[in-house]
Amino acid sequence: MLPYSERRLRLADAMRAQGGGVAIAFTAPERPRNRDSEYPYRWDSYFYYLTGFPEPEAALVVIAEAGRTESILFCREKNPERETWDGFRYGPEAASERFGFERSLPFGSLDEELPRLLADRPALWYALGADDALDARLQRWLGSVRAQARTGVTAPARAFDLYAVLDEMRLFKDTHELATMRRAAQISAAAHVRAMRVTRAGCREYEIEAELLHEFRRNGSQFPAYGSIVAGGANACVLHYRGNDARLADGDLLLIDAGCELDGYASDITRTFPVNGRFGAAQRTLYELVLEAQRAAVDATQPGARFAAPHDAAVRVLAQGMIDCGLLQGTLDGVIESGAYRRFYMHRTSHWMGMDVHDCGEYREPGEPAAGEAGRPWRILHPGMVLTIEPGIYVRAADDVPQAFHDIGIRIEDDALVTDTGCEILTLDAPKRPEDIEALMRG
Ligand code: GLY
Ligand code: MN
Ligand code: MN
Repeated sequence: MLPYSERRLRLADAMRAQGGGVAIAFTAPERPRNRDSEYPYRWDSYFYYLTGFPEPEAALVVIAEAGRTESILFCREKNPERETWDGFRYGPEAASERFGFERSLPFGSLDEELPRLLADRPALWYALGADDALDARLQRWLGSVRAQARTGVTAPARAFDLYAVLDEMRLFKDTHELATMRRAAQISAAAHVRAMRVTRAGCREYEIEAELLHEFRRNGSQFPAYGSIVAGGANACVLHYRGNDARLADGDLLLIDAGCELDGYASDITRTFPVNGRFGAAQRTLYELVLEAQRAAVDATQPGARFAAPHDAAVRVLAQGMIDCGLLQGTLDGVIESGAYRRFYMHRTSHWMGMDVHDCGEYREPGEPAAGEAGRPWRILHPGMVLTIEPGIYVRAADDVPQAFHDIGIRIEDDALVTDTGCEILTLDAPKRPEDIEALMRG
């Protein structure tokens, strides 16, 4: 069975557990870039998760009744003229056959069909409040069901957030997803290796970005999973650096945060290495510290641990290191308690990753807080969850900071799959030990 069909059945089971009803999911619209050019098309992650259907102008309806599930796709009709200009369209008939829908109907018939499909269903699942246009459309469809009340037809009496159900499903990656994510991670790791090989003093950051994109695309990746950060020297201290146009200086570090998207799945890797192939003494001190923090965070990434465990482990190592090298004064507990370490490490260590680089999924345990708890505790890690582990240190020049560390920004980021016994690092092919990086750059 296609993974998408299997996911629709699981969604229907979740709907039946609430008494059944109808779910509606739209894909993303095409978006204009300027005049008559559009951004490269990227479907909606939730819709694609349930369908595998790649075309714009499409919607999925899932009907879950006792003992019966029906999936109906609405999609563009075949159109030889448009296909001559824009390329192949499945059309309803081929779509059903290829993607396993019970029925497929023309996208243009939505307004006619939906009132019928909504009639006499106890509940509705959709992206509550996510899109004004969809909300307005639903209002019209529900209005037209209610207008038939005198004929004995009823409209859904309850609405549920479709995303809440799908977020939970997407948090646990299935075999099909993991195979794609492993491959995406390998491609991205190869791109980082390529970047290390070609980097030389005097290059522009965008020349290195071009090497990354080349490696992504030549391996079949459709897009970068997010805007690549290629940040030399002090630029690495700008967390969301976007310029990518400065010249790389001999003696500086280069921080690259870049990952490809493959068949809808992200990867997310950061490596930091010396432009001239040799870490300087102060750079090496801070680099070893971040690497040690990452090791501690990886060790803490285990089934049964809380989502915050890798972050807490990384912070302890980083904070101690900051004290040891004179960036901070005080005791370990003191600088953690006061948050003083945040001056040099201001982001968290992990986020979920999947179809979206910052993937969906609750970071806190679902449900009500236990009695006496101030809030919901951090999520417990389970096999099948994928998260990043990305500690860093960012030292801006300042009078009260030892000069040797000025303008050094370092992050080391890998993607980890929680397994039965610990975690599997999906991005190991990108070297991160200083001696491995230096050997690669020498070679
Ligand atoms: N590249 C985005 C992140 O690391 O979260
Ligand atoms: Mn990340
Ligand atoms: Mn990243």
